[in-house]
Amino acid sequence: MEKIPVGILGATGAVGQKFILLLTDHPWFEIRELAASERSSGNRYQDIVTWNQAVPIPETIGPMMVKNCEPNLDCKIVFSGLDSSVAGNIEEAFAQAGYWVFSNAKNHRMDPDVPLVITELNPEHLNIIPYQQKNRGWEGAILTNANCSAIVLALSIGPLHKMFGLETVHAVTMQAVSGAGYPGVSSLDILGNVIPFIPGEEEKMENETQKILGVLDQDRFRPAAFTVSAHANRVPVEEGHLECVSVKLKEKASVEEVIRCWQEFTGPAHDLKLPSAPQQPVVVVAEKDRPQPRRDVWKYQGMSALIGRVRPCPLFDIKYVVLGHNTIRGAAGASLLNAELVLKKGMLD
Ligand SMILES: NC(=O)c1ccc[n+]([C@@H]2O[C@H](COP(=O)([O-])OP(=O)(O)OC[C@H]3O[C@@H](n4cnc5c(N)ncnc54)[C@H](OP(=O)(O)O)[C@@H]3O)[C@@H](O)[C@H]2O)c1
Repeated sequence: MEKIPVGILGATGAVGQKFILLLTDHPWFEIRELAASERSSGNRYQDIVTWNQAVPIPETIGPMMVKNCEPNLDCKIVFSGLDSSVAGNIEEAFAQAGYWVFSNAKNHRMDPDVPLVITELNPEHLNIIPYQQKNRGWEGAILTNANCSAIVLALSIGPLHKMFGLETVHAVTMQAVSGAGYPGVSSLDILGNVIPFIPGEEEKMENETQKILGVLDQDRFRPAAFTVSAHANRVPVEEGHLECVSVKLKEKASVEEVIRCWQEFTGPAHDLKLPSAPQQPVVVVAEKDRPQPRRDVWKYQGMSALIGRVRPCPLFDIKYVVLGHNTIRGAAGASLLNAELVLKKGMLD
């Protein structure tokens, strides 16, 4: 099939760079446009980006000219890794002009007519799109994926909620510095240190997981009824958010039953054979001191949530550790999977 041209808004940032890596050589999409702020536009990508990836800038991308984030790009789909200070209005302008915007920014995630989708967990939430288009008079649309810590948490609690029902979730994060973008947290603040506060992060984990695991009733989202309490911490790790989670289940289950639930969970991304779908969205690791960010974050191309240390919890029912790649599974990879789903469902025809 002929590849579909796409654009990347915020192409110079931490998430934008991951979009470039994931979209170069993608079987369905090809990068046609790169856009960022006025500081970058009008320059060749390779001349203005602070490239922070382990592999070089793809040869086809380096010489491309960066444009302004104005809705005159030569494509119908845009992936947004825009800073939230500007994402709201820019993404709306693109949707109004007929573009499908796959966004990583927080601005529209909790809007009542915007889907917040993790492909494997709540693909049916895409059914809000026609209402969104009608409400707003848009030919295009905005689809969001969740905050990076919320995605990792949701991938682990989602299968449990579907099988046993969740009552209460308690999560403590250890979040990588790349989660704050570039240049992000100052080295003097984070080296040899832990910062026990990330603005807005705990609220996102608490609210976004309820929207994702809630129900779409015609044109209205009904959030899931479980309670989430989150503590968010920034730690001196480059990539990968680790979270210690305890859950109280509605229907009691043993450690073995919970592990089996994760192992058997696949979801539509896998069933539809989407190109970016991991073999298993959730992988339970056997080693007693894993997963660890430095050693495990790139396993399964960074697209699976890795779970370890599953054991009974004396306060709730079960406790465990989960690791996810914040800029891949928690951002660009999640968006790309959503775009693949939309395309496969024929919503762009
Ligand atoms: N990092 C993560 O792990 C992660 C995970 C999930 C979601 N997110 C969300 O994804 C978005 C991007 O995060 P990030 O970590 O990639 O941030 P980042 O590294 O700071 O990148 C921000 C991007 O926004 C662009 N930008 C800034 N001001 C602009 C303006 N006035 N007009 C147009 N473009 C502008 C920047 O372009 P210039 O280079 O030209 O300034 C850059 O490309 C944020 O909304 C963030 O909350 C991040």
